Amino acid sequence: MASEELQPLQGMADIGPPEIRRWQELEQTARKILELYGFEEVRTPLLERAELFVRSLGNETDVVQKEMYAFTDRGGRALALRPEGTAGVLRYVASRGPEAAEARMYYVGPMFRAERPQAGRRRQFHQLGAEAIGPPNPAADVELIALQAHLLQAWGLEKWRIRVNSRGTAEDISMARRRLRECLEPLRDTLCDDCRRRLETNVLRVLDCKQPSCRAHVERLPPLSEWLAPASRAYLEDVLQLAARLELPLEPAPHLIRGLDYYLHTVWEITHEGLGAQDAIAGGGRYRIEVGGRAVEGVGFAIGLERVLMALAGERGGAGTGPSRQLVWLVAHGEDARHENLRLLQILRRHGVAVRMCLDDRSVKAQLRAADRAGATHAVIRGEMELAKGVFVVKDLRTGNQQELSLPELIPLVTSSSPLALDAKS
Ligand code: HAM
Repeated sequence: MASEELQPLQGMADIGPPEIRRWQELEQTARKILELYGFEEVRTPLLERAELFVRSLGNETDVVQKEMYAFTDRGGRALALRPEGTAGVLRYVASRGPEAAEARMYYVGPMFRAERPQAGRRRQFHQLGAEAIGPPNPAADVELIALQAHLLQAWGLEKWRIRVNSRGTAEDISMARRRLRECLEPLRDTLCDDCRRRLETNVLRVLDCKQPSCRAHVERLPPLSEWLAPASRAYLEDVLQLAARLELPLEPAPHLIRGLDYYLHTVWEITHEGLGAQDAIAGGGRYRIEVGGRAVEGVGFAIGLERVLMALAGERGGAGTGPSRQLVWLVAHGEDARHENLRLLQILRRHGVAVRMCLDDRSVKAQLRAADRAGATHAVIRGEMELAKGVFVVKDLRTGNQQELSLPELIPLVTSSSPLALDAKS
């Protein structure tokens, strides 16, 4: 067991090679797709005024009450590490004024929640999220759900489902709260301790209590849509119909509520069957947030990237190795060859070849060992004789095949299957 000092904090992780390549691949694919839908990247600070989250997510939510890393800084300001991305992005959008009325922004980065760590639940985790600003419109909600399905498919994920519901308008949700309290009050003694408290503080949270006794009660409740105004019910119906036209497999989830108070109208969650207790890979919905005296409306989602990678590993039967990568290692026999290799290093890199060498004086055997440790795919070996003849011995380290080549023959060979190959420039 390595010394504790060498480990990151509990619930947090270093992400280094080779795992980082799977992250990069995921992000590269996502960026291309997000651009197809007209989204642009925004990077907001990790640290914000705590009040931004309290007011937008809601003071009674679990995230604000139990999970936020909130503290007072040296200047006495109440700050918090962002537990999610929407609030900061909407603060940014509001700061842009009318020019951002129809902004489409996406973000990728770490979020922080002081939860009890377990499989799929971290204290620092990463979300890829997108927010489309604009007034309520079922077509916009469906477009965002379609975008998420596109992302999951492009990543190669198959065993997921999208569950969808509506919270209606602000009036609808206060009516739902009242009705829910009426239904649950007679059952008070059979609810768990948390839910008994929730009857007073935030009765909607009872709907996603995980305790079996509370779940049994919830399953017998009327669908939330029964308490919505006819216009809100029609909005949900439009969402379902538009999604059906796009062949998006939405499943109505009559008691889905989502844990953040900024939602209005459509809410959804995407779960993956291989993930156990923490099976939500993404969540989203339509919202309205007031920030800096401005109201911002829109629809968005966030995908948990750790969970996507876990789900992918499950479907593929292992973590996989990530995209294959070509790396050439220059091996020198003697000092002249080593000096010449420094020049070759530069030439090959300018041709878009990923290439390295040992910069110190080592035996050929030790250089080949270093190549192997770095995962090199080819070794290019030169000694006095090769220098005199102007040739290179190229060894494919995966197959052991070896051939003698000239520079014009070498470059196409090591760039041919290389994802790093650029257009040849001399
Ligand atoms: P959320 O449902 O709280 O929504 O989080 C979205 C996703 O982040 C979850 O489905 C899950 O995959 C991942 N996630 C959340 N907490 C953790 C954790 N402790 N460890 C690992 N993964 C986690 C939001 O954050 C909203 N801002 C989504 C949104 C954007 N709604 C509208 N726009």
